[in-house]
Amino acid sequence: MRLEDCHNVQDFRELARRRLPGPVFHYIDGAADDELTKGRNTRAFDDVDLVPDVLAGVAEIDMSVTVLGRKLDMPLFLSPTALQRLFHWEGERAVGRAASAFGTYFGVSSLSTVSLEDIGRTVTGPKMLQLYVHKDDGLNDSLVQRAKDSGFDCLTLTVDTIVGGNRERCLRTGFTSPPRFTASSVWEYATKPRWALDYLFREKFSLPNLAGHLPEGSSKSMSVADYFTQMLDQTLDWTRAEAIRKSWGDRPFCLKGVMSVGDARRAIDIGATAIMVSNHGGRQLDGSRAPFDQIAELADAVGDRIEIICDGGIQRGTHVLKALAAGARACSGGRLYLYALGAAGEPGVRRILTRLHAEIERDMKLMGVTRIDQLDRSRLRRR
Ligand code: LAC
Repeated sequence: MRLEDCHNVQDFRELARRRLPGPVFHYIDGAADDELTKGRNTRAFDDVDLVPDVLAGVAEIDMSVTVLGRKLDMPLFLSPTALQRLFHWEGERAVGRAASAFGTYFGVSSLSTVSLEDIGRTVTGPKMLQLYVHKDDGLNDSLVQRAKDSGFDCLTLTVDTIVGGNRERCLRTGFTSPPRFTASSVWEYATKPRWALDYLFREKFSLPNLAGHLPEGSSKSMSVADYFTQMLDQTLDWTRAEAIRKSWGDRPFCLKGVMSVGDARRAIDIGATAIMVSNHGGRQLDGSRAPFDQIAELADAVGDRIEIICDGGIQRGTHVLKALAAGARACSGGRLYLYALGAAGEPGVRRILTRLHAEIERDMKLMGVTRIDQLDRSRLRRR
């Protein structure tokens, strides 16, 4: 199986499964408990049908959207995800270049493996820093300041990781950051020599945004779930979220992981620009509702006062169109580009974005729309 054989997200998942060491693949692919929510995030789109119009004159398509203060060339962006140099040696550099080439937002994790300064210098397109609020307040302040100084457009506060999810695949494989090569796992790494050589001989693994603050995760191995539970601040509340929003200043501010109407209203009260409707890819609370299923309810309650981003489960252009028709302003996803990164680095990420861009354009034409604002609830039917 080669890059040219990958036509969709599932093809890239398969190639990533073949190329990555098991513990790394299962860290990306796995989710919490029985992984019901992860599956629902995508299947939710199957419960709603599109109703196309025809003879609409669709030679020219404009799929741009304005979200979080930036005009994006496509209505889908790359959610922040951690540890990218473990998936491919170029990590965030590869993903950032691909996102910029497609004129869309690049989400950068607090746990990125390339520094905010490096990304600020080299990634030309729109960028957001995803913030985890740590118990170490000096670290929180430094992340916000460094993102400001590095020219990040948006700060995205993750609010659904107050403790680590129960990720049983990681328990079984023993996946930690940085990877720990134990007697039982070393075989998994050794059988993927390309990955192993890159890991051993390229730039040393680190989480440069934590440097000078914490060894955990960067030089002291631990699972991501334990990292959340031990290092993140469980007193985080709305007062604190508002203080962080103020410390960020006037640039766009987003809350990632909001699901309920009540919380969306509070997000408006603290001055957030947007919410990412998300259950963290099903990696936290299993049984949580699919983001797509929440969009209409949220759009009806608050859609004119805050931007709604549908994050989770997206694998197809039609998924994007369904979410936008339901009331989202844009969509985002993590695994949809991480499989491609793990499978083939920057060319992989560019290829999946090319495929998804082409699907969105084709599907808009088949739906008889030329602009995103022509998609509304009248074009959807629940089965
Ligand atoms: C995760 C984090 C790091 O593993 O976003 O879900």
